[in-house]
Amino acid sequence: MSSNHGFPFQDQVTVDLGKRQIPLKIAGTGNPILFLHGFPLNASMWETTIELLADDFLCLAPNLRGFGNAPEERKSFSLGDLARDCRDLLAAKAVRQPVVVCGLSMGGYVAMQFANDFPDLVSQLVLSNTRANADDEAGVQSRLKMASNALTLGTERAAGEMLQKLVCKFTHENNPNVVTCVRQMLLSTHPSTVAWAQLTMCKRPSFFETMEDWRFPTLCVAGTDDFITPPSVLERMQLAIPGSRYAEIANSAHLTPMEQPEVFASKLRSFITENLH
Ligand code: MLT
Repeated sequence: MSSNHGFPFQDQVTVDLGKRQIPLKIAGTGNPILFLHGFPLNASMWETTIELLADDFLCLAPNLRGFGNAPEERKSFSLGDLARDCRDLLAAKAVRQPVVVCGLSMGGYVAMQFANDFPDLVSQLVLSNTRANADDEAGVQSRLKMASNALTLGTERAAGEMLQKLVCKFTHENNPNVVTCVRQMLLSTHPSTVAWAQLTMCKRPSFFETMEDWRFPTLCVAGTDDFITPPSVLERMQLAIPGSRYAEIANSAHLTPMEQPEVFASKLRSFITENLH
C-alpha cells in the first residue's frame, strides 16, 4: 500500500531466528504493539495503521509463516508454533516489556493463542474481526476444500471469492485502492500457504474456556458490515472476557483497519492510552 504521509518510515527487516527467517515491518518508538495479520493477507495490511500510530508506539508487524515474503512453508504448523515465533521475534528485537497484541481474524487466533501461552508478555489485547469458537464440522470441511483447491487450482480460484466478503460496498465504492491492495495480497499468497493455513486454522481450539482467566485489558473490534465475523460474534467474546470493551466501526466489513484506518487507529490509541499503567 502506498503511504499517504511518507513518514514515519517503516523498515522492512528480516529477523533471523536460526531455524526460521521472519520478515518484519517495524516503525516508531514507545510502548510496543505487535500487529498480526489476517488470512490470506500479510503485514502490509497494517501499513496505514502503523503510519498513524508510529509517532507514539513501537509498531511491529511480522509476516506469519509462508505469508508475504516469508519463506514458503513445506510442512504443517500449529497456532502454538506461530505464537512461539512471535515470542522469539520479540526476544530477537530485544522487546523486553509486555506488548499490546493486536490481531485481525487469523491474526486474532494467533493473538489468543499467544495470550494463553505467554500471558506475562501481554500488556493489552486487541481482537479485531475474529472469533473465539473452534470450527464446526461444516467449517472444517470447507477449509479442507479450500486447501485442496488452492493446491490444484491456485490461490485465485481458491481464495478469490473471499475478496467480495473481505471489504464492504462502501469500500468498493469509495476506496478502490484498498480493494486493489487486498486483491494483490490475496493473489500473491502462495497456494501451499493457503493450504497450510487452512489446516492450521481448522485445528484451532475454542478460546472461550481459557479467556475467562485473562487479566489484561482487552478490546474487541467489529465492522458493522462484516459477514465473516459479524458484530454479534465479537459482542459474545466481549461478554466472555473479564473487563473487556467492545467497539463497532461503521462502513467496514472484515478488514476494519484497512477500510477505516483513521477510526481504527484512533480507537486503538484511546484504548491503549486509557489502559496504560
Ligand atoms: C481471516 O480473515 O483471517 C480469515 O477469515 C480467518 C478464517 O478463515 O477463519
